[in-house]
Amino acid sequence: MAKRLLSGMQPTGMLHLGNLEGALRNWVRLQDSYDSYFCIVDWHALTTVAEDPSNLKSLVREVALDFLAAGLDPAKCAIFVQSHVKQHAELHLLLSMITPLPWLERVPTYKEKRENLNIESASYGLLGYPVLQAADIMVYKAEAVPVGRDQLPHLELTREITRRFNFLFGPVFPECEALLTEAAVMPGTDGRKMSKSYGNAIYISDSADETAKKLKTMFTDPAKLRRGDPGHPEVCPVFALQQLYNKGETPWIEENCRSGALGCVDCKKKLTEALNENLAPIRERRQVFASDPALVEKALEQGAAKARETAEETMKEVRAAMKLG
Ligand code: TRP
Repeated sequence: MAKRLLSGMQPTGMLHLGNLEGALRNWVRLQDSYDSYFCIVDWHALTTVAEDPSNLKSLVREVALDFLAAGLDPAKCAIFVQSHVKQHAELHLLLSMITPLPWLERVPTYKEKRENLNIESASYGLLGYPVLQAADIMVYKAEAVPVGRDQLPHLELTREITRRFNFLFGPVFPECEALLTEAAVMPGTDGRKMSKSYGNAIYISDSADETAKKLKTMFTDPAKLRRGDPGHPEVCPVFALQQLYNKGETPWIEENCRSGALGCVDCKKKLTEALNENLAPIRERRQVFASDPALVEKALEQGAAKARETAEETMKEVRAAMKLG
């Protein structure tokens, strides 16, 4: 039996190239070798948007489209929405009973979120965010969790909660392990890290024309003002994208940028072509699913049904271990 794997993503916006290269492509590879569960964590999103969740439903749908477009295959893995599988909430509640408050107060993301979002009085749910994440993982007895480095504190906490549960109630859960995705930082069009909140992102859902337009305005080496000026590829965000999406031409581009023979306009044209070609199959798939809402609905229903079955098996053991029911 293949090892079980789970990962989750918050429906906070359309997914961009950073999400694609940092997570989705890796998930697509992993779905072939693990019993995989990919969860759109809408309850987690409520820890920051609870007062105005008006867009939540459409964001969930867009993320589902991006998952399917990237190549996650409902025949190989379970793609589902967290709130469709109530067992996550039940396990979250039970785990909250055995999680010491100080463990949660020292989680770095809790402090960061409170500061970044300017929250004076954080909600109970925000503090409990990592307990809900532990429940997401544990309810499937997932052993492998592909995540970025920023999530390591949450996985460490999940392991601590797992050990505590097993110590108190018997060996129900395996300890999960992170499958670290070591992605190169994806530069956005302004040269900073690509992020939806900076307004510098290229989205999976962008058209080829939109992509071309964004690349036209992209920052380059500030010392290279016109063709003829020698460029410094090592500081140029366009070159960073060439290395990702136009590997074959990279040595030539590097040489001719440095010498000055290649201007930024032509360099960007090359990138636009390579990037649009790379994304074409993903965008085509997105179109197919976007024009057939019933197909997406069916994939999410099928995913939730499979997830519920696995999760309910775990919960039967948990309830028995905790002398419930
Ligand atoms: N906290 C994760 C993030 O912000 C999302 C997440 C929720 C998750 N539940 C998970 C990731 C379970 C891995 C496993 O990226």
